[in-house]
Amino acid sequence: MTYFEQVTEAALFLRGKLNGLSPRIGIVLGSGLGAVAESLTDAVAIPYAGIPHFPQSTVEGHSGRMVVGLLGGVPAVVMQGRVHFYEGYSPLEVTFPMRVLGALGVKAVILTNAAGGIAEGLQVGQLVALSDHINLMGWNPLVGPNEKRFGYRPGAGLRFFDMTEAYSKRLLALAREAAAEEGFALGDGVYLAVSGPSFETPAEIRAFRGMGATLVGMSTVPETIVARHMGLEVLGLSCVTNLAAGLGTAELSHEEVFAAGRQVEQRLAGLLKRLAPAIASILKS
Ligand code: HPA
Repeated sequence: MTYFEQVTEAALFLRGKLNGLSPRIGIVLGSGLGAVAESLTDAVAIPYAGIPHFPQSTVEGHSGRMVVGLLGGVPAVVMQGRVHFYEGYSPLEVTFPMRVLGALGVKAVILTNAAGGIAEGLQVGQLVALSDHINLMGWNPLVGPNEKRFGYRPGAGLRFFDMTEAYSKRLLALAREAAAEEGFALGDGVYLAVSGPSFETPAEIRAFRGMGATLVGMSTVPETIVARHMGLEVLGLSCVTNLAAGLGTAELSHEEVFAAGRQVEQRLAGLLKRLAPAIASILKS
């Protein structure tokens, strides 16, 4: 069975579980940010373990299920937990869930993550929207033969495609408005992705700052690349869970990252509940 056929089979399986809902918005929840899934109404939860060909998350804080329901009244599919390259998954496995969202007919994805803050002035617990990214993972999930059939949206599925607006400006503008209505300011920044799993050295963080990075993390970028290949619009949201190596006083740990995520997840849930209907209203059917 080809990769494309596996994606199609997983999507068909899921479609059978959706109670006729056809979500146009997909959301991926990062470390410690799982609570958003609880704000869905009329929800159906499907464990990754039950979805054909779906990779299983091994990281603590990533629960591994898909929840489909209404978010702020609009159909959305939420992935509670993702798999990472550092767990030993291949680039194709890491991006399999994103392909399935594309096959399900999702048109916009909101990719959330926990990130280390590099730019001056960032505070732990702050939410930052991504304006752009820098891929320092050392690989690209599209290496290999181009599968044109992944071009679910018009003009997509190309071998070479533009990444000038990897992160949708109009989704970012909506996110900023929704945040203001929720009573906080949403800044934006450049997310630099590394493979992990070790955190960075202070010298690496100084170098990344010089390159123009605002945030550093171990996810999201492969998903963004694949989403753009399918023609989906992307909104990236980072939760600053720690100051990057050499900038703070505490030793970096997964527990710290996870705990900081837990502190912002309610704020993130409020933001996404307000944002989902706003996004749905600008997506053309
Ligand atoms: N570095 C890389 N990934 C991260 C960090 C960090 O400091 N914090 C959360 N994810």
